[in-house]
Amino acid sequence: MSDYQARALAHPNIAFIKYWGNRDDALRLPANSSLSMNLAGLHTRTQVRFDPDLEGDRLVFNGKVSQGAALERVSAFLDIVRDMAGQPWRAVVETENNFPSGAGVASSASAFAALALAASTAIGLDLDEAALSRLARRGSGSASRSVPGGYVEWQAGDSDANSYAVSIAPPEHWALADCIAVVSQGHKKVGSTSGHPLAATSPLQAERVAGAPERLAECKTALLERDFARFAEVVEADSDLMHAVMRSSQPPLDYLQPASEAIMAAVKQARAAGLAACYTVDAGPNVHVICSAEDADEVTSRLASMPGVQQMLRATPGGPAQLW
Ligand code: PMV
Repeated sequence: MSDYQARALAHPNIAFIKYWGNRDDALRLPANSSLSMNLAGLHTRTQVRFDPDLEGDRLVFNGKVSQGAALERVSAFLDIVRDMAGQPWRAVVETENNFPSGAGVASSASAFAALALAASTAIGLDLDEAALSRLARRGSGSASRSVPGGYVEWQAGDSDANSYAVSIAPPEHWALADCIAVVSQGHKKVGSTSGHPLAATSPLQAERVAGAPERLAECKTALLERDFARFAEVVEADSDLMHAVMRSSQPPLDYLQPASEAIMAAVKQARAAGLAACYTVDAGPNVHVICSAEDADEVTSRLASMPGVQQMLRATPGGPAQLW
């Protein structure tokens, strides 16, 4: 590509050990470390072109000019990149997702990982993986985890310099699949940027954070040893704990719908009957069912016929953010 422009692709990720609540909201320094898998099959592609003649930033999302809060968030992020490079130039950002918008798959992770790589490259910065992960974190905490490939740990750290994600195993380490049961296409009532500051109002958050290192260590061991039974227990427990915090915060946040709860119960039951599958749910009602790749067809067909399931999406372990 010619000067001052670059294109990048990044996958969203699903957290097995969740991030909820910050020790510093402005810098997005998380209250606890988290663990995730990048989702191949789903991606954001972003092109950034800095132009000294532009008067303001411009954002085009899925072919449509975007303004308001979305543009402001992108502009604020580009300000960080401009500061790092010592350049004042405004930019045109063109971005698209290959997964349905509003399908409840968190797109801010892939969006800010792709934007961090495209914008930093376009403006002439040559960031290593840790620096790129730190930059992506400033746009959306979970975006820090979409920078390295495969299975990823975001080490919470305690400063901007040491809070970034690293790969703990490549995508081919374990052939898992994420079968996503979409039960709502609607936008979240409360987005995660407004949700994180509420975490501290829950009496359960301190305990969730205190136990996170132990759960993360357990999940990491299970993952590295490909021990699904161990993995499933800690993944579900961690997701349940996050939703308990959300529901007991002031004001309470309840992202789960009756259909979500029915799917979660069915997954638990199926596992008790011998199917290697477990659930995890982010800040929305859609249920991510993690299973081995060979069971993904079976899991998908069982979930597709459940009441309230509008659509099934499927992802497998994905690689790092990359230029294209
Ligand atoms: O990156 P954010 O601010 O959208 O936060 C994501 C939080 C959860 O998706 C609920 C959990 C996680 O670790 O991804």
